[in-house]
Amino acid sequence: MVKVGIDQITFHVPNHYVDMVELAKARDIDPNKFLIGIGQEKMAVPTIEEDIVAMAANAANRIVTEEDKELIDQVIFATESGFDFSKSAATYIHQMLGIQPFAKAYEVKHACYGGTAALISAFNYVKLNPERKVLVIMSDISRYGLNSGGEATQGAGAIAMLVTANPRILALDSETLSLTDNQFDFWRPSYAEVPYVQGKYSTELYIEMFNTIIEEYAKRYPERLSELQAISFHLPFTKMGRKCLQSLENKEETNLDSELVERWFSHYEDSTFIGRQVGNVYTGSLYLSLISLLNFDENLEEGQRIGMFSYGSGAVAELFTGVLQPGFKDHISKEGTLLHLNRREKLDISAYEENFEQTLSNEDGVIEVVKDKETLHPGFYLDRIDDHRRYYNEIT
Ligand code: CAA
Repeated sequence: MVKVGIDQITFHVPNHYVDMVELAKARDIDPNKFLIGIGQEKMAVPTIEEDIVAMAANAANRIVTEEDKELIDQVIFATESGFDFSKSAATYIHQMLGIQPFAKAYEVKHACYGGTAALISAFNYVKLNPERKVLVIMSDISRYGLNSGGEATQGAGAIAMLVTANPRILALDSETLSLTDNQFDFWRPSYAEVPYVQGKYSTELYIEMFNTIIEEYAKRYPERLSELQAISFHLPFTKMGRKCLQSLENKEETNLDSELVERWFSHYEDSTFIGRQVGNVYTGSLYLSLISLLNFDENLEEGQRIGMFSYGSGAVAELFTGVLQPGFKDHISKEGTLLHLNRREKLDISAYEENFEQTLSNEDGVIEVVKDKETLHPGFYLDRIDDHRRYYNEIT
């Protein structure tokens, strides 16, 4: 059986961030609520030219080689921050990266679960077509509003990964377990600029679905579960996965070995490093946590199996697994991650608030997005909207 999985993976976050201590003070909240209570230190803030396509192109451009461009058959773009109900964000990436014309490019959506739906589709395609590759992208801007209950759990960023046969990082297993429950914990009707959210309920539902999946997984695949060295979680904020693991510890009746939960806990902190500095990137959050684990956990070894818990409000959850491949550490870069995070500039709270109010809506459909190109950082950016069409440019 051919192995299929993640051959390359990287991320891109905007050029600015807000310091959570400063945000807490501005909102008259004890900073420890943000730092410890929800587990966030910095929050990525996109400026107007850093839309989901620009961030995605910047991530993808780092991993896609000239040879890959001929071998990629699909570009799958997961997002819940789409700016068009019809044309998919994937078509821009197809053009910006110069992928061969006979590829297909499309967008998928199911809240934060969309990224996993894209990855599993890519996995299935490459299983059937092992000579070909799929580019999977997750890109989102998480916005709840100034002074809103969810403000401290905003963020923005994109993940890009190449799914191939004989992957160099993580070979995925075919057995997965998913769960669907039609609920209103977090949702954004098409007329709403920001989501409706029942914050506390959303965290409870997330934990409940995690527990239901673990119980059923333990019945169906007991050996596989006990093999899992670590679990990466979808992290809307970094306390979330910790709350799930704690819920397993506190369970009165459980078939789980307590050493197993302790083992998962021992890897947890390293999986949160990037999320703590970025915030929620919706579809990509689980994969930021995976990159974080791969980068910062010195105790992970090739051949070990890790789990990934995906959650998308509304709600769908899935637990899937993969095996770390020989030499996987050669294909991830802790230094690159730190450089990328540390290149960012801090916005003070008034600049963040001013930036937040900037929007692209314009009935004439003509907007010169970037007034002063001298201020831009290298990379792709949204240059202008003309006749309701988005045009991108690149600073090299
Ligand atoms: N020092 C240390 N800890 C403190 C503290 C202090 N001074 N003050 C408060 N805390 C702790 C609280 O005890 C609490 O801890 P526990 O969760 O362990 O009980 C924590 O800080 C948060 O406090 P509150 O519950 O009072 O916080 P809140 O009412 O402001 O809401 C939130 C937090 C619900 C996450 C809110 O930010 C929110 O609605 N966020 C958006 C929704 C969300 O992210 N939901 C997650 C599940 S849904 C999902 O995963 C999909 C998705 O991506 C959106």
